[in-house]
Formats: sequence, C-alpha cells, structure tokens
Amino acid sequence: MGIQTMMVIGAGQMGSGIAQVAATAGFRVILNDIQDEFIQRGLKGIQKNLTRDVEKGRKTEQEKAEILARIEPSTDLQAAAQTDFVIEAIIENLDKKAEIFRQLDAICPPQTILASNTSSLPITEIAAVTNRPEKVIGMHFMNPVPVMKLIEVIRGLATSDETYQIVEDLSKKMQKIPVEVNDFPGFISNRVLMPMINEAIYCVYEGVAKPEAIDQIMKLGMNHPMGPLTLADFIGLDTCLYIMEVLHEGFGDSKYRPCPLLRKYVKAGWLGKKSGRGFFRYE
Ligand code: CAA
Repeated sequence: MGIQTMMVIGAGQMGSGIAQVAATAGFRVILNDIQDEFIQRGLKGIQKNLTRDVEKGRKTEQEKAEILARIEPSTDLQAAAQTDFVIEAIIENLDKKAEIFRQLDAICPPQTILASNTSSLPITEIAAVTNRPEKVIGMHFMNPVPVMKLIEVIRGLATSDETYQIVEDLSKKMQKIPVEVNDFPGFISNRVLMPMINEAIYCVYEGVAKPEAIDQIMKLGMNHPMGPLTLADFIGLDTCLYIMEVLHEGFGDSKYRPCPLLRKYVKAGWLGKKSGRGFFRYE
C-alpha cells in the first residue's frame, strides 16, 4: 500500500510539526483542526521553520514553496475520506480521541491506517472503538518534531504486522528513526522520562536544591541537552502531570505519585513556557 495523502488532526505544536515533516517528505497533507485560526497558527510555525532552513542554506525558496503547497488546511473531518493515512495529534484526552477515531472509522476507506500521536494513552483502547483495530497504531513523535529523530511506534494488542511495517516505512520516509514498543502506560519514552522529571520536582519541593542547580547538575553531569525542569516547562507542566497520572493509575504503584508541587503549579496556571511561567519565567 502506497501512502499518497495523509491527514494530520490537530495543528498545535505536535500536529504542525508532523505536517511539516510529512510535507517535506513529499506527502500531500491535509492539516485539520476545529478552527481555521488554529490551522493558520500552525502554518505560521511551519513557515517560520522553513524560512530558517532557507536562511541556513538547507532548502531553496522553491523547495519551501513546494512543501507549503503540499499542505492543505481543512476544518472538515470528512476530508479524511480522501486519505490513506490519518494521524491524530489533539490534546491528551481519551474520550476526545475515542470520539475522533469513531468518526474516522466511519469516514475513511477500509484500507486507511489510523494512528495516534498520544504520548501515553492506551492504543488498544483507542483501537477498540473502531472496526479496524488491526489498522490502529501509535506513532509518538518527540518535540520539537522537525529536530528530534525518534518515532516511538506503539503496537496495540490487535495492530497487524502489515500496519506496523507500513508505519515503519513511513517513519523512515519522514527521515525519522522508528523504534517498536508494546502498549503499556507511558510506553518507554514517558515511563522513563516522566519519573525523572517528577523526581526533579520533588527535589525542588523538598528544598534539596534550587531549580537552576538541579538543571545544571543534569546538563553538566549527564550531558542532557536541557535540564529536567526546563524540559518540563518546555513539554508543559499540565502534560507532565497528566502523564504521571496515567502512569500512577495504570500501574497502581506509588512510585509514580505526581509531586504535590507539580499539581500546585498546574492549579496556579503555571504551565511552563506556553503560559510564560513554570519552574522558570519566559518573556
Ligand atoms: N522547531 C524547529 N526547530 C527547532 C525548534 C523548534 N521548536 N527548537 C530548536 N530548533 C532547532 C534550531 O533551529 C536549531 O537548528 P539549527 O542549529 O540547524 O539552526 C537546533 O534545533 C538547535 O537549537 P538551538 O541551537 O536553539 O538550541 P539547542 O541546541 O538547545 O537545541 C533542542 C534545542 C533541540 C530543543 C535541545 O535543547 C533538545 O534536544 N532538548 C531536549 C528535547 C527533548 O527532550 N524532547 C523530547 C521531549 S519529550 C516528548 O516530546 C515526548 C512527550 O510525550 C512529552
């Protein structure tokens, strides 16, 4: 099966990044969101990234124009009827995702693969609302999508080998490196990353060190490109809390208990970079 046209649902940070790498790889991309305003914001981000590529000599003006021309905005989910592949990148809410997958299952041709960019929700459960669970898969991109090489490819309980193979090939065409994992809470990336971030927040909570010191230790001592608290601000503290809750509930193990300080920050609306304040302040 050759994928020609795909739909990306959700034009936020992740969705627009996915649309950019897919269009760069030569696919026709329908970029969908509930409001045109959200799509335009996503397109602006893509344009900015491509302009930087042109300035740095990595792309020509013509290539930039061709990539942008391959992205078609649409607020109508029915446009998924023309696609071979759909990837959903909306907010992390199981009910909302399930509703979209239910609709997509009714709209899309039988061969269309339905993927989710979820960072921790169960692929098996999302697949179960469709009549094609063998064609449902997790395709977890990392932020910032244009820069990060990894795609964590998650097999739901019913995902077929054929679907996995198509998504592995697609990931490679997008110049990414797919890595296969099975469907368990947090998969691998967030099961390992989030407890580290949560622990760093406990260190602030218990007064072990200042946020700057914690980040410096992890950057200089472990060669991490960003300290865990900067990374948490970058991911969004609401997302970090949500993923910790998925781990805590999914495994029923107190080792995943979200730090009370993380809850407090989220309740205060200190969500990190996107809200201007988290563990650090942003202009
Ligand atoms: N979009 C596109 N390109 C971006 C970008 C963005 N948002 N942010 C940075 N870049 C590009 C820059 O343009 C630059 O490219 P050039 O040098 O070719 O111009 C390159 O990335 C490096 O950027 P900077 O020099 O500005 O800064 P840096 O060296 O600190 O790199 C970084 C930035 C790549 C984000 C780096 O800090 C990093 O790797 N951080 C960790 C990121 C990470 O862990 N991501 C995973 C998050 S977890 C996740 O996504 C999963 C989840 O479910 C929560």
